[in-house]
Amino acid sequence: MKPIYHVLWVYLAVFLINKGLCCVFLRLNKGLIKGRIATIPNSNKKFYAFQQIPYAAPPIGTLRFQPPVPVNAWDNILDTTKNTKICYQIGVNSIEEDEDCLYLNVYTPKLPSTNSNTSLPVMVFFHGGAFAIGDSKYSSYGPEFLVNHDVVIVTLNYRLGVFGFLSTQDEVIPGNNGLKDQLFALQWVNKNIHLFGGNSSEITIFGQSAGAASVGYHLVSKKSTGLYRAAIMESSSVLNSFGYQRNAKHFAHKIASYINASVTEESASEEILSVMLHASSTEIDKAADKVASEESYNSAQLFQGYFFAPVVELDSKNAFLTENMFEILDRGDANNVPVIIGINSEESLSQNTDVNFLTRLMKLYDNDLKALVPNNMNIVDENSKEEAGQLIRELYSGDDLLQNVPAAGIKYMSDTTFTRPVIKYTLLQSKHSELYFYQFSYDGKLGNISVVVDGTERVGHNEELAYLWRIQNEIFDNYDLSLFPESDITIQNRLVKLWTNFAKTLNPTPEKIDLFQNIIWPQVLEDNDFPYLNINENLQIKNYPKNDSFCGWERIYDQYGNRPYDSY
Ligand SMILES: *[C@@H]1O[C@H](CO)[C@@H](O)[C@H](O)[C@H]1NC(C)=O
Ligand SMILES: *[C@@H]1O[C@H](CO)[C@@H](O)[C@H](O)[C@H]1NC(C)=O
Ligand SMILES: *[C@@H]1O[C@H](CO)[C@@H](O)[C@H](O)[C@H]1NC(C)=O
Ligand SMILES: *[C@@H]1O[C@H](CO)[C@@H](O)[C@H](O)[C@H]1NC(C)=O
Repeated sequence: MKPIYHVLWVYLAVFLINKGLCCVFLRLNKGLIKGRIATIPNSNKKFYAFQQIPYAAPPIGTLRFQPPVPVNAWDNILDTTKNTKICYQIGVNSIEEDEDCLYLNVYTPKLPSTNSNTSLPVMVFFHGGAFAIGDSKYSSYGPEFLVNHDVVIVTLNYRLGVFGFLSTQDEVIPGNNGLKDQLFALQWVNKNIHLFGGNSSEITIFGQSAGAASVGYHLVSKKSTGLYRAAIMESSSVLNSFGYQRNAKHFAHKIASYINASVTEESASEEILSVMLHASSTEIDKAADKVASEESYNSAQLFQGYFFAPVVELDSKNAFLTENMFEILDRGDANNVPVIIGINSEESLSQNTDVNFLTRLMKLYDNDLKALVPNNMNIVDENSKEEAGQLIRELYSGDDLLQNVPAAGIKYMSDTTFTRPVIKYTLLQSKHSELYFYQFSYDGKLGNISVVVDGTERVGHNEELAYLWRIQNEIFDNYDLSLFPESDITIQNRLVKLWTNFAKTLNPTPEKIDLFQNIIWPQVLEDNDFPYLNINENLQIKNYPKNDSFCGWERIYDQYGNRPYDSY
């Protein structure tokens, strides 16, 4: 029955396409999908949206905590016109949360047809959210601004929190399933994107925050070699310690013990797996929230490394990462493709502006300088740790942090959670890759956060997202661009054009144009003055981003830190 059934549907599909009706049909090797036709605002340009295409089998039942496996073929036409599923999140309670969440979205301005073969550059996006929250819904990451520049956009879900990153640090639950999901999606894109008008030889991976750390993990994993030709990382790198899980085994025991009280720190990994496989997804989700609230999620400890985040695995056939990230980069052994990476001018402005919170925190640090010291320095000797803490404090506020609240706290958090590791990454990777560095300093209405704190810069974490994506959620709403100043729109056009130029030509400024104020963005080279593009009202080439605090940090790492490093 199947062949004739399919032939009929294909005729219907062609008929509907030709009539320019609601939908558009595509045949994938697993079955037919039905997408929708959408319009780019303020233009007559159309694009095609295929949302919630399954790229792996639902990771449920015995597939829970396993790497992704291929999805079965389907007979009926799959409706891919909307997003209804997100992966389980930590600290979130939404009816959209579902263990069955391995889906991706493809947005394309042009489909292949019998009289024209299209082959557009492709950009695959990993969303942020500390490996604990976030999703790829159309309302979270609408592709219009990017698609308008004739690129194919792919956004995707990957398993988060305990479902994506539980690890017993052995062969029972090796970990990194969320990254293995992303890898599986990248393989899917390489195999299928030509059906959507994309060129699989021109894939750029990009991401923000934990999504940028994810990009960084693909750059250091041999498993991802050859699946992309360029990378963009916004506000994080693989060296940001929030993206790396310390004590994974401890967290595995802890969550399992909340589900079944007979689990202790001495329980075998097999028992943990058994307990976790027998629990319902909501039980696991609740237990994860409990671990999170006890481990002071959202607190100052973020920069020390997260629970339920990526790990270094034991060597095995399926391992995604088996060696410390810093050491791979330092050896020049990453996938050395062209890179854009950068920071927002005051990353922590988005999170830590509560003066009471910062006052309490600075008091705590003044009384315990060792708490200022990142774990990734691997300092064992308590006296050395105290000395390092003292030097770190001096970078921000002489010998009294309380004198300088909130600026000292905000700057310390910006540097240690986001900026320092991104700059260090740049110094290591620019020896081996063509690399462009930016600082996003434009404090526009589009970015929504408008906090001004004396002694700090102005642009917080996440703000650049609303310049690249069409978003409607609790933080951003840029559906009606006429509500925003003209200068915001100029900056938006610039950012989108820089990103898509890079996806097309591997060079963000291939020629001098008015939109870029005739600026050519230079690469960071081993023997130049660390040039970077400062993206503010005007574009400007500057040198050595965040130099004062970064040099101080580097001196302290060199004097007190102990290699090998994982993060920085
Ligand atoms: C499109 O590509 C196919 C296969 O490579 C080729 O046979 C066909 O002639 C191409 N069509 C056009 C219009 O270029
Ligand atoms: C796909 O991209 C590669 C690399 O840029 C290019 O050589 C090739 O011509 C492109 N293919 C098509 C069909 O445009
Ligand atoms: C808890 O775990 C123990 C040991 O694995 C098992 O015997 C018991 O049945 C479990 N209890 C529940 C409620 O699952
Ligand atoms: C923007 O931020 C303000 C305050 O920070 C908030 O009240 C508002 O709801 C935010 N979201 C949107 C979509 O404007």
